Amino acid sequence: MNRKIEDYIRKTFTNNKAVVANPTCYIYDLQEITDRINEIDKYKLPNVSLYYAMKANPNKEVLKHVLKHKEVSGIEIASIGELNIARQIGLDDMSKVLFTGPGKTPQELEEAVKSKIRYINVESVVEAIRINDIAKRLNIPKVDILLRVNINYFLDGASEYMAGMSTKMGIDQSRFKEDYSYIKKLSHLNICGFHVFAADGVLDYNILLKYADFVFKFVKEAETVVGKVKVIDFGGGFGIDYTKAGMKFNTKDYFIKLGEILKKYSFEDKEIILELGKYIVGSAGYYATKIVDIKDCKGMKHIVTAGGVNHMRLPIATDRKHPVYIVKMNEDKLYNEQIEVKNETVDIEGPLCMTEDKISWDEYIENANIGDIVVLTQSGAYCYSASTLWFLSHELPLELIIK
Ligand SMILES: Cc1ncc(COP(=O)(O)O)c(C=O)c1O
Repeated sequence: MNRKIEDYIRKTFTNNKAVVANPTCYIYDLQEITDRINEIDKYKLPNVSLYYAMKANPNKEVLKHVLKHKEVSGIEIASIGELNIARQIGLDDMSKVLFTGPGKTPQELEEAVKSKIRYINVESVVEAIRINDIAKRLNIPKVDILLRVNINYFLDGASEYMAGMSTKMGIDQSRFKEDYSYIKKLSHLNICGFHVFAADGVLDYNILLKYADFVFKFVKEAETVVGKVKVIDFGGGFGIDYTKAGMKFNTKDYFIKLGEILKKYSFEDKEIILELGKYIVGSAGYYATKIVDIKDCKGMKHIVTAGGVNHMRLPIATDRKHPVYIVKMNEDKLYNEQIEVKNETVDIEGPLCMTEDKISWDEYIENANIGDIVVLTQSGAYCYSASTLWFLSHELPLELIIK
């Protein structure tokens, strides 16, 4: 964690009245988001479009900032709630919106059709029929869709899998021809391409390239049935490193090699969509929470913080720790024998009445005292909004922006 962020956290926990009263917050560094977008833009191929998967972080300031970049073509939403947030921050060009996700309700589909968003990513025959019926009723001649397919390929080496095994996402590749025989009869649908998001958190770009090769083979074959398509949407998946080693996804080599594979299939004229979430905002976020107590119990110490999995559920949910830093605040001791942590391995736990309420565990800490701040880096994606925020009815953590 750099000095600028450490100083900001120290100042915030000293001077920001709301944080002093409720000592736990998220901090998002907008420059880091810009750097990540620029990194992609520097190397991406001309036929690649970058979208932001807003489920990663729907904070309005973050979203506004992402959309300020002309290099970002738009957003991928997973609900009409997300579309409403985007509208609230002023996004009115619906051709910048893609809608993905299993279990879209008929009402959500109707709103998407009426809004004339760019593509609805259709996940099943049922969804296709519903969209077709809505379009017919509203006298809309054609709705542009991508068909989401659960490709018969397991991307070994990701942190979470959406496809390549039995999941609720998309149409099973093994059933594709059968399902397509229904979908092709739906005259209000315009099939523009495929959506093939399969896995998240991939740090080794070679894994994504092998998958791309397999997908292109599928698309070549599918085109003999469906006809030529314009778009292949790979969803997200570029990973970030959750260790202090700080490994980076190699965007440069990824795009160079993707270009070679596109050439092999003569697919250079197809639009390749990336809907990135974690890569764009993950490393821009910090979760900071004050140490309210330190316990020594049956041979092990426990750091107890103001916020727990109610604010920061991702580490325990994925069984993957985030890098931990301690910002020293040098508060006076309450009594002489007050316990501190010195060069030992501890668990870091929140205030909830359950033992699984850990934001880190088996963590080696050089020194920590009551009053110091625990900081978890890499906390910009799937952290705040994916937490059990109202469990035990604690105050919500503040979300602060470094511009
Ligand atoms: C359809 C879709 N697109 C994009 C993403 C973003 O993935 P990531 O944050 O790994 O880039 C997700 C994440 O779950 C998703 O479900």
